[in-house]
Amino acid sequence: MAGHVSNEIDLCGKVVRASYMHAPVRGDVDICRDALMEIGADGVIGSVLRPGDPGYEQTKQAASDAGRLMELPGNRFLLPGFVDLHVHAPQWPQLGKALDVPLEVWLQEYTFPLEARYSDTGFARAVYGDLVASLLAHGTTTALYFATVHQQATRILADTCLEKGQRGLIGKVVMDEPTQCPDYYRDPSTEMALQGTREFIDYVRSMPGNGTNLVQPVVTPRFVPSCTDEALAGLGEIARTCGCHVQTHCSESDWEHGYVLERTGMTDTAALSEFGLMGRHTVLAHSNFITEADMEMIAAAGAGIAHCPLSNIYFSNAVFPLRRALEKSLRIGLGTDISGGPSASMFDSCRQAIASSRLLEDGVDPSCQGGSRGVANSRIDFREAFHLATAGGADVLDLPVGRFAKGCLFDAILLDPEAEAAPIRIDDQIDTLDDQLQRIINGATRANIVDVWVSGKRTGLPPQ
Ligand code: GUN
Ligand code: FE
Repeated sequence: MAGHVSNEIDLCGKVVRASYMHAPVRGDVDICRDALMEIGADGVIGSVLRPGDPGYEQTKQAASDAGRLMELPGNRFLLPGFVDLHVHAPQWPQLGKALDVPLEVWLQEYTFPLEARYSDTGFARAVYGDLVASLLAHGTTTALYFATVHQQATRILADTCLEKGQRGLIGKVVMDEPTQCPDYYRDPSTEMALQGTREFIDYVRSMPGNGTNLVQPVVTPRFVPSCTDEALAGLGEIARTCGCHVQTHCSESDWEHGYVLERTGMTDTAALSEFGLMGRHTVLAHSNFITEADMEMIAAAGAGIAHCPLSNIYFSNAVFPLRRALEKSLRIGLGTDISGGPSASMFDSCRQAIASSRLLEDGVDPSCQGGSRGVANSRIDFREAFHLATAGGADVLDLPVGRFAKGCLFDAILLDPEAEAAPIRIDDQIDTLDDQLQRIINGATRANIVDVWVSGKRTGLPPQ
């Protein structure tokens, strides 16, 4: 009996015959045509077999006989779903806007007024529904989200991820420092900020239908400037006892890094560490200005970094020293930083991570002598960018996703390299499989993504 050609159904409990590309180890890619993946009823990958592996033919025949074989078109590729390590969900309505002012102006004049609107739960429901559907359509199967200070709207984001089947790690934002946060958008008190964090954690952990922890709560001090010392210490204590992830911004721009130095006498990294917010579960967005000592502290804590190359162009005043941080064994993934970055696509984040690393390496001022214009050995390539956007981000979150391997959850996108509405035209005679992956990383758009699964369950793609 022939297998079904299908891209319309859940893959739980099925054996999928498909070609795939992934980058489980940084620097290496693994591309295979016509692999067989056994996916359990729980969405966990039971085995990955290549043509010629022992058991390949028998597994295929047995699955076919049982009507469990799903054959995906051979010219399409499964890729691991993207892990976006830094998204501000409430900023979705201003994507691409207000990128011409510095961070501190952007926050006060555009971002805080927008985020304040999420006291309106109807507004939150509409925006979050569109955001989660759009990110899934762009291939983002896991997102680490900042929400707003509001309890109800943040719960709506959690409900939305669960409903639409996106793996979402979500934080109620804490910002209680009156000198940095406007009266109209601030936690009413430190105690209420901490209580709100605890309540949101309890809410997510008892959500009906969230038994597999598809949605997880995250302790989320916005950044040191917007939080009082008491709030930071209180969140450190919550983080210690609840076992949640922690997310915040770290040493992002000249202004922000300087502000924290002046207020605390320490770098962001050292201050966060003092407050108990630096551990294996911590994800630091940006971290552009971290010192050598900071890198060592981050590495010792096992904390991760969300590198946000698109937003860094507009708000950070510098290029993150990605290669140096990788060489120090820091755990790193990529983030879009919607809406500090103007694109929802992790393909764009990959491209900008590569481009920024090249600019850092070569330097940018032609009036400087070639060879002494930049920072030698700073570049990354498309293979490393692909890894960071998938397995790298998954590893930062200690989630079993981001690669096709036994024991990992099947979070995947189906990519059609020949999609008419996208710019790539593959020529099998000329393009090796490695070339094809390079062309995909450098050129793919949402139009190339024809299907998306999280834990083996198909998520509905909105029309393009
Ligand atoms: N620092 C504090 N809040 C924000 C934010 O929303 N975006 C960015 N990029 N940096 C921040
Ligand atoms: Fe951010």
